[in-house]
Amino acid sequence: MRVPVEIISFFCFLFSVTFVQGQECLGEDISYENIEPVANVSYTDGEMVNVKCMTGYIGSYKLKCKNGQWLTFFAQRCLKKKCGHPGETLNGDFKLIEGRDFTYGATVEYTCKTGYEMTSRINRRQCRIKGWDNSVPVCEEVRCPVIHTDEDVTASGNTKEGTYGEVIHFECVSSDKKLDGSSVIHCTENGVWSGPVPQCIVTCQLEITEPKVIRIIPWGKTTFKAGEVVKIICSGKNQFFQKQETFTCTNNGKWDYKPTCEESRCEAPLNQHVYIPTFYFKGDLNMGAKRSYSCESGYNQRAEQATCTRDGWTPKPLCAEIKCDPPRIPDAQIVGGQKQEYKFSSRIEYKCRPGFKPEQLVQITCDSHGQWTGIQKCTDGTCEEQELKNIKILCGHPSIASPYKPGHILVFQCTDGNMRFYGQRAIECLPDGRWNYPYPQCGGTIQCPKPTKHFQLVKLSDEKALYSNSEILTYTCKEPYNKIPGGDLMCQNGKWNGTFDCTSEICPPPPYLENGDFGIISKNGDVITAVSYTCQPYFVLTKQQDQYNCVDGKWEAPPKCLKPCEVDDIVEKYNLQPPTGKVFIRHADKFRLNCTDGWNTGSEMKAYVDVSCSNGNLQIGKSCDTQNQ
Ligand SMILES: *[C@@H]1O[C@H](CO)[C@@H](O)[C@H](O)[C@H]1NC(C)=O
Ligand SMILES: *[C@@H]1O[C@H](CO)[C@@H](O)[C@H](O)[C@H]1NC(C)=O
Ligand SMILES: *[C@@H]1O[C@H](CO)[C@@H](O)[C@H](O)[C@H]1NC(C)=O
Repeated sequence: MRVPVEIISFFCFLFSVTFVQGQECLGEDISYENIEPVANVSYTDGEMVNVKCMTGYIGSYKLKCKNGQWLTFFAQRCLKKKCGHPGETLNGDFKLIEGRDFTYGATVEYTCKTGYEMTSRINRRQCRIKGWDNSVPVCEEVRCPVIHTDEDVTASGNTKEGTYGEVIHFECVSSDKKLDGSSVIHCTENGVWSGPVPQCIVTCQLEITEPKVIRIIPWGKTTFKAGEVVKIICSGKNQFFQKQETFTCTNNGKWDYKPTCEESRCEAPLNQHVYIPTFYFKGDLNMGAKRSYSCESGYNQRAEQATCTRDGWTPKPLCAEIKCDPPRIPDAQIVGGQKQEYKFSSRIEYKCRPGFKPEQLVQITCDSHGQWTGIQKCTDGTCEEQELKNIKILCGHPSIASPYKPGHILVFQCTDGNMRFYGQRAIECLPDGRWNYPYPQCGGTIQCPKPTKHFQLVKLSDEKALYSNSEILTYTCKEPYNKIPGGDLMCQNGKWNGTFDCTSEICPPPPYLENGDFGIISKNGDVITAVSYTCQPYFVLTKQQDQYNCVDGKWEAPPKCLKPCEVDDIVEKYNLQPPTGKVFIRHADKFRLNCTDGWNTGSEMKAYVDVSCSNGNLQIGKSCDTQNQ
């Protein structure tokens, strides 16, 4: 038979009490598992101690110190607290996230199945001394919010109690409207609908049904909301065109203008007093096409060319009837009374009032500019006095004072001697009260610049940039061109009356080449007898001859330097893009210019034009007169 430890210990205790009296017990000698350390280091003989289990363990011990030995009075081993199963939740699951079994310290976490959501705030339970904390979480079916629609939208499906996976279909009550958004939504696992509740809105439909419409922009779209804008592209090289640049969907579901392609309306203009060769109207009449034309007599051509636009030919009308306003002639009366307006080449007569000249009837004509020709002022015999600017009356006969009667003569002079004089020095008042010549005028300057041609051959008496009128410039010819020692030039009304006349016994100086220079090839002493010519950059020589000789005192005919062309803004007139920088084209060279964006040359459909240069004149053969598709 086994004797329990406690009983043996008790006898030992009695023994120790008997034989080892009065000794202390040490706290650290208490060596049960999973206990808390006792409070004091040592205990006196006979003292009782309660030993507690560590946190999370259940049990206890009671000991007594007897002659330096611990005597166990009561013992319940310290065992780990067990919590049991944490509990299942409906439509959910749990897993251990702390610990390996359901004992003290273990933690479980609950999750809900898809389509269910946890209504409890806390999703965990932990095994504590008193058992599982919290309560088992509850999983409830997910519900999407109640669906509210506008009255023109019908929704089918459970719109009030939509649970996970529930599908709702939408439709418009009226066939005039279209759903703006998805027609089907479903309740997602998160309790929100997969998309917004759509509205029924007014839309405009547009599909390519007409063969002339080849494209709708934005591409691929057929339903448009009110306010949205569409463009169409028409086929047939601009033969068809859209009535408007863009079309807008209006609030009533209609386009502001039906997006169709219309045919160009540029036919031969008949009965418009226009003359255009009829063959011009065969073939394509693209928008932007230009045609030269002329007008019947009596009609004014309003543009250089007629242009085909979506509204027909412009300008409108191509030829405007020439009309004259009633003439305004002071002191005159029109024979037969005055009309509101007069046609081209109308002839009317007027008579000056008694005492005024001319006395006979005057006939006037409405000319091609819409002006009257042949008007003579009605005058009482006095010639009109006019304002004097930069000019003065030098003398007059019989006087310089007005009124100027027939026979009166005035002589004029510029107020500034360096000004140029235009007109007649002397004018006379005629018997009909008109001057025989208009008043002369003064303006500009009549100074001469320093001569440049053959300047290197001479020595000047007086060197300056400008010489005044009538000034004489004396020059001396330099060696070896001093066969004649020199001469005089005179500044006459802004021009020298000649050039330096310097020559040698053998040859005159080589001919001067404008915009070019010569190189000496051979000399006889100091006299040049053969040269070659070169031009300034961009200028082109007319002849490719290496050498020009002086034969028997005469030079062979020199070449010329042909001018380059500058590509300037004029190209815009031809619908060409001017180049970004300055471009010079040599004579006979070509240069390619791009059409303005969106345009081409028509029949050849090129987006560029080759221009060429002819001695400073830019030659542009074609216009970019056709709009791209
Ligand atoms: C520990 O010792 C102190 C003084 O030495 C005593 O007051 C106390 O009661 C003792 N505690 C226990 C649990 O024996
Ligand atoms: C220019 O005029 C001056 C002064 O009258 C005269 O001496 C000279 O011979 C003229 N020159 C020419 C080239 O006619
Ligand atoms: C013309 O267009 C082409 C291609 O778009 C470009 O490479 C070229 O530089 C343009 N030429 C000019 C003169 O602008």
